[in-house]
Amino acid sequence: MINSILASAFGDWLPDRASTLAPRVDAIFWALVAASTALVIGLLVANLYFLIRYRRGSGAPRPPLRISTSVIETVWISATTIGFLGVFFWGARVYLFAERPPAGALEINVVGRQWMWDVRHENGRREFNEVHVPLGEDVRVILSSEDVIHSFFIPAFRVKQDAVPGRQVSIWFHATKTGTFHLFCAEYCGTAHSGMVGDIVVMSPEAYADWLTRGNTIEGLAQRGRRLFLRYNCSGCHDQPAAVHAPSLGGLFGTLVPTSDGRRVRADELYLRDSILRPEKDITAGYEPLMPSFQNVIPESDLLDLISYIKSLPATNSSPNPLPP
Ligand code: CUA
Repeated sequence: MINSILASAFGDWLPDRASTLAPRVDAIFWALVAASTALVIGLLVANLYFLIRYRRGSGAPRPPLRISTSVIETVWISATTIGFLGVFFWGARVYLFAERPPAGALEINVVGRQWMWDVRHENGRREFNEVHVPLGEDVRVILSSEDVIHSFFIPAFRVKQDAVPGRQVSIWFHATKTGTFHLFCAEYCGTAHSGMVGDIVVMSPEAYADWLTRGNTIEGLAQRGRRLFLRYNCSGCHDQPAAVHAPSLGGLFGTLVPTSDGRRVRADELYLRDSILRPEKDITAGYEPLMPSFQNVIPESDLLDLISYIKSLPATNSSPNPLPP
C-alpha cells in the first residue's frame, strides 16, 4: 500500500518486486524517503518564514518566551527518540524476517568462484550462472566461495549476501512473480567481476519439477556426498560400528552437541563445515581430538555435498553423540 502510494508520488524507478521480502524492504525505504522529505521541506519553510518575519528592522512583536526551553527540549528529544526507535524496530522486524529461513525450505547449493556461480539442486541437477526456482515456495540458497569474496545479489528479490571463503551462509526468498531476473556478483572479485552475472528463472512449481528431471542430473547431492564420504575415508571412523571411536553422525544435524570444554554448539551447516576443516575447534565431549583437518584437501563443492549427505542421515537408535557415562 505505502509502496504504491509513494511510488506514484516519486515514480517507481526501483527494480521489480518479485519476492515476499521486496515490498517490506521498499516500504521502509519509501517511508524513510517520505519522512526525510517532509522534514527537509518543513525546516526549510520554517527557516524562510522566520528569516523574513524577524529580519532586522521588522516590526514583528518579540514577546518573552512563555514556556521554558527545557519543556520544548524535552518534548522534541522524546518525540524524535520515539520516532527513531520506531524506525529501528520496524527495520529489525524486516531484518529478522529476512534472516530466518522458514523450516522446510527447498535448498539449493551455490558456490561462487572466479568468475561464475556454480549451482546445484537437491537431486543433483547442476547449472552455471542461472538459478531456476519455483514460484510460491520458500527457497534457501546455501552459499560458499571457492576463492575470494563474492556477493550473491538478486535486486528484484532484495536479497544480497556475501559468499566468504571458509564460511557457509544462507539466504532465503519466496518468489512471487514468474519471469527472469538479474543475478549479480556485488563484490569486486577480480578482473572479470563485471562479467559474473546471471539469471534467476522463476517457474511454476510444475515447470520447475519437470525442469529438475531434465538435463545433466547424474546423482543427488546426498548420494554424491555418500560416495565422497567413502572416498575421503570419513566412513572409516564415522560409519558405525567403526574400529575408531568417533561420533556417529546419524540424526546429528540441528541438535545441540556438548563439547569437551563444556559448551553446547548447534550442529548447523557451519558447524559441520568447521568440524571437517578445523576439527580441533569443537571437540565433542567424550572423544579424543584424533580427526585430521581436511582443509585444502576437500574442494568446496565436495564439501557442500558431504554436508548434504550428513544432513540427510536419519537418527540411529543410539543418540547421535552420546555422552560417556
Ligand atoms: Cu564475484 Cu564479483
